[in-house]
Amino acid sequence: MLWRMIRVDSIVPMTDAPRQLERPRTIVTVDRCTCHDVRFAAIAQWSTARASTTIEDIEDQWCCGTSCGMCRPYLSHMLKTGDTTIPMIMPSDNP
Ligand code: FES
Repeated sequence: MLWRMIRVDSIVPMTDAPRQLERPRTIVTVDRCTCHDVRFAAIAQWSTARASTTIEDIEDQWCCGTSCGMCRPYLSHMLKTGDTTIPMIMPSDNP
């Protein structure tokens, strides 16, 4: 049987996919470094008082990115865009 993933947390058979797609999609977002429980909004606010901020500056000040490293792409995105709540980056988003 063919299966199609339509949400991060659910897999439905292909035969049910059209009905499932009519539902609003759940968008999983990331808003913090979970290892150090630091919200990106706090980092962004701290960053506004600085002339420039790099990932290394954030690591030195907040320790974010220094444990599992999963927050590093989100921190990079935050520095580029100012967004502090970011849709989860899936492997297919980063070829
Ligand atoms: S989530 Fe930031 S270091 Fe693990």
